[in-house]
Amino acid sequence: MSNKIAVRVENVVKSFTGGDSRVFALKGASLEARFGEILMIVGPSGCGKTTLLSVICGTLKFEEGQITVFDKDLGTMRNGEITRFRRENIGFIFQQFNLIPTLTAVENVSIPLILQGKSRTEAEKRARAVLEQVGLGERFKSYPNQLSGGQQQRVAISRALVHEPRLIICDEPTAALDSVSGHKTLELLKASALKPDRCVIIVTHDSRIYPFADRIVQMDDGHVIGHFDDHTQIQHA
Ligand SMILES: Nc1ncnc2c1ncn2[C@@H]1O[C@H](COP(=O)(O)OP(=O)(O)OP(=O)(O)O)[C@@H](O)[C@H]1O
Ligand SMILES: [Mg+2]
Repeated sequence: MSNKIAVRVENVVKSFTGGDSRVFALKGASLEARFGEILMIVGPSGCGKTTLLSVICGTLKFEEGQITVFDKDLGTMRNGEITRFRRENIGFIFQQFNLIPTLTAVENVSIPLILQGKSRTEAEKRARAVLEQVGLGERFKSYPNQLSGGQQQRVAISRALVHEPRLIICDEPTAALDSVSGHKTLELLKASALKPDRCVIIVTHDSRIYPFADRIVQMDDGHVIGHFDDHTQIQHA
């Protein structure tokens, strides 16, 4: 891990309005994620973890504060610019994998490259190489419903990494997996996603994967309430 900052979130406020009520999901949250590290974000349901990931990716706008990702100030970027920046620089992994059921493994993994304008042949060649790296070389023509949960998550990891993004964002990546598959997923992320010029941010409830974190940020009620270098220091509510 280096001390160079990949993502900086400073005093970010984000609220949602529905009818006549307003919910503050982030109430001045701040954190730093460094190059070469796995940063985990933990905290109770509803405390703002997914919202924080969404503002870091630029898929949600925030109202106050500042976010910089690789020295780019998201608050000053236009929507089209943020979309392009995200396609180039960010890979996503979700709890439910979010694979497209009508596409095969290799077609699912090709998507980020196709969005970047690569030809289908070139995209699928690269996608197959990544699937081979995660041990799914034999299954590249399978559809998601023909694969186990752990295998589907490996396809999702391949899709997140295929365009070699510098920031990998994971929202509950092991929640739908048994403990062996969850452990394997983290090992794979650590081996394939983590490089000195990259950063991995993982939101999780799953204390079994805490030992994979280089640092842990604890959230509660829209705030970051602690930074820990060691998962045994986390305060359990
Ligand atoms: N689109 C939305 N509209 C209205 N309220 C929302 C919206 N998204 C999130 N919220 C509210 O913002 C708060 C934070 O939600 P968020 O999804 O960030 O929590 P979380 O920490 O990811 O929870 P979980 O662990 O259950 O996934 C919650 O009170 C939630 O109800
Ligand atoms: Mg969430």
